[in-house]
Amino acid sequence: MHRSHTNGELRIENAGQEVQLAGWVQKIRDKGFMIWVDLRDRYGITQLIFDEERSEKAVIEQAKTLGREFVIQVTGTVIERQSKNEKIPTGKIELLVSKLQILNGAALPPFTIEDETDGGEELRMKYRYLDIRRNPVKESLIFRHKVTQEVRNFLSNEDFIEVETPYLIKSTPEGARDFVVPSRMNEGQFYALPQSPQTFKQLLMVGGMDKYFQIVKCFRDEDLRADRQPEFTQIDCEMAFVEQEDILNIFEGLTRHLLQKINRIDIAEFPRMSFEHAIKTYGNDKPDIRFGMEFGELNAAAKHRNFKIFDEAELVVGIAVPGGASYTRKEIDKLIDWVRRPQIGALGMVYVKCHEDGTYKSSVDKFYNQEDLAKWAEETGAKAGDLICVLSGVADKVRTQMSALRMELAERLGLRKPNEFAPLWVVDFPLLEWDEETERYHAMHHPFTSPKPEDMALLDTDPGKVRANAYDLVLNGNEIGGGSIRIHDKNTQALMFDHLGFTPEEAKEQFGFLMNAFEYGAPPHGGLAFGLDRLVAILAGKETIRDFIAFPKNNSGRDVMIDAPSKIDAEQLTELNLKLKH
Ligand code: AMO
Repeated sequence: MHRSHTNGELRIENAGQEVQLAGWVQKIRDKGFMIWVDLRDRYGITQLIFDEERSEKAVIEQAKTLGREFVIQVTGTVIERQSKNEKIPTGKIELLVSKLQILNGAALPPFTIEDETDGGEELRMKYRYLDIRRNPVKESLIFRHKVTQEVRNFLSNEDFIEVETPYLIKSTPEGARDFVVPSRMNEGQFYALPQSPQTFKQLLMVGGMDKYFQIVKCFRDEDLRADRQPEFTQIDCEMAFVEQEDILNIFEGLTRHLLQKINRIDIAEFPRMSFEHAIKTYGNDKPDIRFGMEFGELNAAAKHRNFKIFDEAELVVGIAVPGGASYTRKEIDKLIDWVRRPQIGALGMVYVKCHEDGTYKSSVDKFYNQEDLAKWAEETGAKAGDLICVLSGVADKVRTQMSALRMELAERLGLRKPNEFAPLWVVDFPLLEWDEETERYHAMHHPFTSPKPEDMALLDTDPGKVRANAYDLVLNGNEIGGGSIRIHDKNTQALMFDHLGFTPEEAKEQFGFLMNAFEYGAPPHGGLAFGLDRLVAILAGKETIRDFIAFPKNNSGRDVMIDAPSKIDAEQLTELNLKLKH
């Protein structure tokens, strides 16, 4: 036994006891006659004291050789501290060391391993194992563990069975590129790593598993962002003999359970909103509904007043910024510059100040009278003291721009409170999405999603209008999960593949196994998957998932610690029947 207690455990009640501790040296203060060492482990910090008067000389000598991050074991007596540290739970005591054993030395760490570190992001990634010793990273991983544990508890209680599905599979389309693995034994052939276990979980339903879940790694070769990693984890679920309502209810339950257990918050409302409403009111399909600033469509009150830009626009849309009437000219100009940045792409912004006396002052007073502007205020819900920001252009684009502006302003105004949680189901997603590049329809969710029966007739006449039995869970403006009721008969599935531009041969080659399975009694089924990394980050009040992954990739998809991806040697390439271009 290297230790009788952890470094977070000892209290004043332990005074007088002889104990053993082990851990890493975080800090050394050497006053000559007295040496203090902060000893750290996963559980906390305990102060050690080496004292000329009370410790043996040999131990003091040994203590003088210690360096930062040395791994040591000590035996000593718990004593009351003279100057107490109220900030840490062990702050009333210290350990008077009688025996010191250096278990391992340590090179000087490349950054300070404390809550506030001097290490930059890239450096900390390179030495991630040292970063994990720091509280913020360690706590995030422990937090993730707790969430995962609660997910397993909840779903197991609801009779879900955790089943593992394979990683070396055939492409499962989820809209990204596949990572592929060459097969040595099957020349010229490749496995794909799963973008999700979608097809396998459907096969488990055919297999009668009824309620399945898996906390599972998924792999997607796509551009990375703060909320995207090339390998990430899903809480993947599927259920048989269910309708959309059953699935929404179970996973509303899971979300409530997590917010209750992890955040000690009872969610009063769990609203649902159609995709169409979300787009019209918030400009995107994952609205943050913790604050208002809903879109007001101003076409009727803004067109045909001789203002060319609005006359030519497909959509004129505005939002009310609370308290924004007090913005200075300079502040408003900055906002205009912000929407004109290439990332946002607006050509300009019209604004209206709603004065306390009930009058309006706009940047387009030449074209609009007080009555018009009052109408704008009404449509956007602007009150006295607010600023109305107005953008115009092609409907899709202008909604996206306005959505970005709404989020930015909310952030600046402190309306996106990390400790406030507003979950939302977005339902009735379109089945298909037009892709400009390939000039054909793609499945908006995935090709196994069922169309709403009442919209089936539109498949031939107006495919873009067909709605799916598909839903997303949104939490604080982030897409946490998505799912659908699946197609479970072979003919509808074949029809879908046809609409997605697969020839019957292509469909058979890629998904023959699923179509075959549907010949043997597939039950009605559906499910969803939560992004665990995102869920964990949001519950912790953050939006960057990297911080909640033990060994994440950087923005170029590299693991800078192990230096991957990397070249493989010629022999291995030959064995895999691969040739590089150069
Ligand atoms: P979908 O593609 O919507 O659905 O994925 C489900 C959830 O996974 C998370 N997610 C990601 N998280 C981090 N990095 C990524 N690159 C990434 N991509 C997705 C998101 C998303 O909501 N098989 C279907 C589910 C189903 O129909 O049951 C699927 O994978 O939070």
